[in-house]
Amino acid sequence: MNVITFGTFDMPHIGHVKILNRAKELGNKLIVGVSSDALNFSKKGRNPVYSEQERLFLVNSFKGVDKVFLEESLEKKREYILEYKADILVMGDDWKGKFDEFSDICQIIYLPRTPSISTTSVIEVVKMSRPSPEDNE
Ligand code: CTP
Repeated sequence: MNVITFGTFDMPHIGHVKILNRAKELGNKLIVGVSSDALNFSKKGRNPVYSEQERLFLVNSFKGVDKVFLEESLEKKREYILEYKADILVMGDDWKGKFDEFSDICQIIYLPRTPSISTTSVIEVVKMSRPSPEDNE
């Protein structure tokens, strides 16, 4: 069984590792579409901290990931599912219901997100912990 999933996976954190591990358990081969920098900008309105090449390299280094590719457009999901012969599409439940249109070509499984962590929240914590100019006075 081929499992496919998609995401930005910027500044990889435990939520990313957990969803990839759980996705892998659903089949034998795990294929990950890593959102391109341009796609990420259009989705989230900011550039990722790590470039698409770095994120491809990082995600490909995770245990259980068999193949990575660059996801260039949200509209190409059907094409990617067919191209990589995916039997199962896994998405975090923040996307619940949003990909049901592909149930004619594969099984769709939404997995619960790991609570209390996201790339955005890590960026906020790092920003807040930056010393302010007054700290040096
Ligand atoms: N994910 C998860 N648990 C989290 C964060 C993300 O299971 N706590 C999953 C998402 O549901 C998605 C995949 O990891 O299937 C990639 O998510 P991504 O959007 O790259 O990560 P976020 O941390 O949610 O990033 P951001 O804060 O930029 O939205």
